[in-house]
Amino acid sequence: MHVHRVELVDFRNYEQLTLDLTPGCSFFLGPNGSGKTNLLEAIRVIACGRSHRGARDSDMVRLGRPGYRIAVAALGRQEALELDLVWKRGQSRRLRLNGVPVERMADALGRLPVVIFSPGELELVQGGPVGRRRYLDLLLCQLFPAYYDRWLTYQRVLLQRNRLLIQSRGDPHPGEREVWDGSLVEAGLPLAAYRQELAAQLAGVLPALHARLVGAAEALKVEYQPGVSGPPASLRNGDEWMAAYRQQLVHARPLERRRRLTLIGPHRDDLAISWQGRNLRTFASQGQQRMAALAMKLAEVQLLRRQAGEEPVLLLDDVLSELDSSRRAVLLDFLAEGGQTLITAAALGGAIRADDSARFYHVEAGQVRGG
Ligand SMILES: Nc1ncnc2c1ncn2[C@@H]1O[C@H](COP(=O)(O)OP(=O)(O)OP(=O)(O)O)[C@@H](O)[C@H]1O
Ligand SMILES: [Mg+2]
Repeated sequence: MHVHRVELVDFRNYEQLTLDLTPGCSFFLGPNGSGKTNLLEAIRVIACGRSHRGARDSDMVRLGRPGYRIAVAALGRQEALELDLVWKRGQSRRLRLNGVPVERMADALGRLPVVIFSPGELELVQGGPVGRRRYLDLLLCQLFPAYYDRWLTYQRVLLQRNRLLIQSRGDPHPGEREVWDGSLVEAGLPLAAYRQELAAQLAGVLPALHARLVGAAEALKVEYQPGVSGPPASLRNGDEWMAAYRQQLVHARPLERRRRLTLIGPHRDDLAISWQGRNLRTFASQGQQRMAALAMKLAEVQLLRRQAGEEPVLLLDDVLSELDSSRRAVLLDFLAEGGQTLITAAALGGAIRADDSARFYHVEAGQVRGG
């Protein structure tokens, strides 16, 4: 799929922008603070419902303005797609998909598959498990739109169970605890099952992608580290997993009584990422960690492509400046084979071997020129 038009009104530092885009690679160059990241953020917001920077609508609306609008038109193999998002202060968002109002943002998730890689993505390998769970969850939402509701349900049950533990000072009425344990276990199963399956798929595609980027045979490994230990989670036959989960909740009771917090469950899941048999976080150099994170993003592209039969749009924010020239060449070669990629950079130090279809845009103070 490729985005062929973006329109922004009062989004960040864009007062009004209409931008036509082509498939292939587009470079957005311009000084710091000109609006390059904001442009990618807008596409990411309308495709995934959330800013990759964790910004709220009130952060994204242009200072002093009452609301913003993002609209994109995209073309895929199967369909043409128009998404139009309007937010006004004091109101909830309004999204239209091909002109028809969409009740919930989640119902449009995955329609425009987008993968973003920005400097913050290094958190994937450097940071704690939260970022890795978010990576899994967001990809799952795009791959399987039904996942979002499952995720919401688990969060809700978890929150209520935690509330119960607090209100009862860690010692809820046994009957009540039974009920909440049952709900938690049931809500947890699909999360564990989907994440486990996704981790297996990632493990399948990641080594080759990473090897190509770094030119080394030593494979990058990812492994699902479940918050519920024991039997694998399966959607078709979850009894064993649910029984094990229940058992672990029983064992955790004394500790939960003291901590007044749910200590076992998919909210404790993680992905272990290792390289040459060691933990990437503590062993690899900054640049090597960056390549691993980038490989994880390219794996996302590959899985989305495979699942949806549509090429996702890849948004690369400030990635090139961080790579040495040979890595950069490999990455650009790789991108030339794929679908649409929008790349930002303050400047392109050194020659870029971009093929003839590549477009160059200049961004300055909320204006985009060229193409
Ligand atoms: N809500 C807003 N209203 C108006 N301007 C904003 C808003 N939010 C951010 N900005 C401004 O938008 C400008 C561009 O931000 P952006 O992050 O897109 O820059 P950039 O081109 O990616 O720069 P860099 O090369 O440093 O990454 C910044 O100067 C910022 O102050
Ligand atoms: Mg930027």
